[in-house]
Amino acid sequence: MRKIAMLVILGWMMTGGLALSADGETLFQEEGCMRCHKAEGKSRIYPSLPEIAAAYDGKSEQLLQYLNGETEAIMRPDTAKLMKPHLEKTKRLNVVERKAMADYMMTYAE
Ligand code: HEC
Repeated sequence: MRKIAMLVILGWMMTGGLALSADGETLFQEEGCMRCHKAEGKSRIYPSLPEIAAAYDGKSEQLLQYLNGETEAIMRPDTAKLMKPHLEKTKRLNVVERKAMADYMMTYAE
């Protein structure tokens, strides 16, 4: 009986019942992050994606924690309040989606 239940759950997961993958770039656009974080250039207020990737180089775990509201901003503490409302969106994502988004941002590392 237990075995059957396991198989049913496994089948459900494999047929997409549970989102096991997510597209970080699409999420980044859908959540409106692109409005402030551009794919290139530098900004004193809104860090671009390459600037974010550089700041979190070798700290991808910390980036995940930041997006989950567990760590403070490390880049522009002065303007962190502009970013605050958007952290509410990243906190609402599931683990897989948050990881996909972080991975997408890290693709801009040099
Ligand atoms: C209204 C403009 C705006 C939007 C939209 C926005 N951000 Fe930001 N974000 C900022 C500003 C300003 C900073 C710099 C302040 C800071 O470092 O906290 C920032 C900083 C960041 C940082 C670096 C944090 C650090 O450690 O300093 C990350 C990562 C980030 N944003 C991700 C996102 C994601 C993901 C989204 C979409 C859910 C998003 N942002 C949407 C304005 C925005």
